[in-house]
Amino acid sequence: MAADETGAPAWPKTVAVIGAGTMGLGVAEQFAAAGLTVRITDRSIEATAQAYERLMQRVRGHAAAGIVPPQAVERCAAVTAHPDLAATVADVDFIFEAVFEQQDVKYDVLARLSRTARPDAVIVSNTSSFPIDDLAEHVLNAARFLGLHWFNPPEWTPGVEVIPHDTTDPAAVTQVADFLRAIGKRPVVVRSAPGFVANRIQNALFREALACVADGLASPREVDEVCRDTFGFRMPFFGPFLIADMAGLDVWESAAGTMERAYGERFKMPHILHDLVAQGRLGTKVGAGFFTYTPEERDHLLLERDRRYAALNDLLARLPPVTIGSSGRDGLSAEIAEGAENAEKETKEVPNDL
Ligand SMILES: NC(=O)c1ccc[n+]([C@@H]2O[C@H](COP(=O)([O-])OP(=O)(O)OC[C@H]3O[C@@H](n4cnc5c(N)ncnc54)[C@H](O)[C@@H]3O)[C@@H](O)[C@H]2O)c1
Repeated sequence: MAADETGAPAWPKTVAVIGAGTMGLGVAEQFAAAGLTVRITDRSIEATAQAYERLMQRVRGHAAAGIVPPQAVERCAAVTAHPDLAATVADVDFIFEAVFEQQDVKYDVLARLSRTARPDAVIVSNTSSFPIDDLAEHVLNAARFLGLHWFNPPEWTPGVEVIPHDTTDPAAVTQVADFLRAIGKRPVVVRSAPGFVANRIQNALFREALACVADGLASPREVDEVCRDTFGFRMPFFGPFLIADMAGLDVWESAAGTMERAYGERFKMPHILHDLVAQGRLGTKVGAGFFTYTPEERDHLLLERDRRYAALNDLLARLPPVTIGSSGRDGLSAEIAEGAENAEKETKEVPNDL
């Protein structure tokens, strides 16, 4: 996508951000810093005015820390705050909806804004979990509508899920993906289903992290350390399939079997893993797993993996530590821990026939 003389992408020129909370403000900051004309709105005149103040605090903080250029502050100062939804979306190229994750609120806001938007305006929802085909039913002229799932903090997290519904115009998907790349994001187009890809996986991780605490294996602080310093350490560079290939799919299948026998159905692996092992595709060690590798490619991959891990260890050693407040039992407040224990006792005491 071509950029104009200010470095801004060729499309969109004007953007409306609806819902200026955690996500909306971060996205507004990045859009404004990229040179777009940005409007924001929130639930009321007061909420919208406060949101503008928070936007300015946010970008000034980033500029003071040297992580955005001083010009970003001027560009955010030019963002306009409109308390009225219709006025905010009128005549803009691109509308970014980031209101509460509540179905009725999304339905209402999407219906109202799509009635006022220009017919060629592209409308996206930042929903974390609602299927896009469901939201699309509330959008007038839904061919121009798609999901655009950013991650917190939006200015810094590169990945964005792009989620068309069944009748989204493919041209809108391309237009949005090109725009994201032009402002430094890494879009991935995925299909619509509750939670999409990222939150389905993140949610499964969080569920098991909570279960480890509830089962008394470790405290929240310890679970965080384990995740961060073990498999999480690898994830800036590789996803689960390449990591599994480098570990050995036979090894993972065997470990998965132990957990399925212990924890039951929720640990049952989809057949793909067993099929690959049955075919002898055990990963990098045999030249094929989820992916295929020539001997040269495999050696290169493993060396580059090690180079990245060494560089990450160096970076981590150089960054100042982050201190967080200690609350109660090593990260779980006494009240919550006690509540969890009581709830567990009550659950255990509930007769089966209730
Ligand atoms: N917080 C995250 O980590 C995260 C990450 C990805 C996606 N999301 C999604 O982004 C969306 C926004 O999440 P958030 O974390 O920014 O929430 P938030 O509560 O911080 O912000 C939501 C904003 O929407 C405003 N709002 C509510 N109803 C409105 C209306 N009718 N008109 C205008 N504004 C209205 C609220 O006043 C608030 O400022 C949700 O769909 C959420 O699931 C959140």
